[in-house]
Amino acid sequence: MLKKITNENENTIYFSCARHAFKKSLELINFKESDTVLIPEFICRDLLSSINELGGKAIFYPVSKNLKPESLPLDKNLRAILVVNYFGFAQNLDIFKDYSLKHNIVLIEDNAHGYLSADKDRNLLGQRTDMGFVSFRKILPVYDGAMLYVNKKNININSTHIFLEKETLPLRFQIKNLFRKFNRYIKIPLHRYIEIISRYSRYLTTGYYLPQPTADAEKRIGYKLYMSHNSYLKTQKVDKNKEILRRRDLYNYFLLTLKDFNIDPLYPNLPDYTCPYGFPFYSNKKEIKSISRLALSIGFDCMPWPDLPSKIIENCPNFYKNLYFIDFLE
Ligand SMILES: Cc1ncc(COP(=O)(O)O)c(C=O)c1O
Repeated sequence: MLKKITNENENTIYFSCARHAFKKSLELINFKESDTVLIPEFICRDLLSSINELGGKAIFYPVSKNLKPESLPLDKNLRAILVVNYFGFAQNLDIFKDYSLKHNIVLIEDNAHGYLSADKDRNLLGQRTDMGFVSFRKILPVYDGAMLYVNKKNININSTHIFLEKETLPLRFQIKNLFRKFNRYIKIPLHRYIEIISRYSRYLTTGYYLPQPTADAEKRIGYKLYMSHNSYLKTQKVDKNKEILRRRDLYNYFLLTLKDFNIDPLYPNLPDYTCPYGFPFYSNKKEIKSISRLALSIGFDCMPWPDLPSKIIENCPNFYKNLYFIDFLE
């Protein structure tokens, strides 16, 4: 059942996930079949579904080891460029802005990782270009949720209402949430142990600890359109300053604690106003075992990122496959 509420901020549209928000951003520029979007090679493959559902095509740009663009190719059907604030760290926009002005192309900020994060001038990430989106569930313990921000100076939207799904959340999520609450009092990450048991049983049945991307992941979003009412209410109640502080403290803790491990932090410094999604670093499978154990001992998960697009994975620089991160989701 859908619930409709008044939108206090008419520059925003809510969805269940960032893929829907990205798709909507393309629809708002009347993106057609045969149009193309420039996106980084270093991206999770699921995001291609937003482009493919509209019949368009992704053109990839390479990134260097510090995840900055190496070059921006040109294509005659190009309509938009995607700029990614990896792990909540602000991407420098200069080269993208020059390119978009020169070629009259829309700039879209993928801030799926960076809710609550800002750049050095305190501009909120996800709101620095023509359009931008965030994914709440990566930062807050909510079931789902994403928001598209549209700069109305440049693009026309009529967003006077927010549509939300009134639904019963899956039992698995409810149980995990209950354990998450216990964790706050007893300081034992029971919800993580549940996750480990569920991963182990997945390993026994499928041979993989983590869910494997489906063959369709690059083609179909495969997820409902609207955010759930429950998640929306929770995002409204969050103590934002406390969450930013918690994440910044964790970042500094891992910078210090992992100093003697065989790792190469992606960002050796934590800039002011950055609200990190997690602690990203280059390393290898052997080292990850002990780092995962350490992270788990204080309730956090360590995993590789991203699941690269099939077109990229076969022939990419090695460092694309050696990035891991400790997820700070509570
Ligand atoms: C950089 C980036 N953008 C977008 C997405 C898609 O987010 P969602 O799962 O909310 O659709 C992801 C997913 O991991 C991501 O890492």
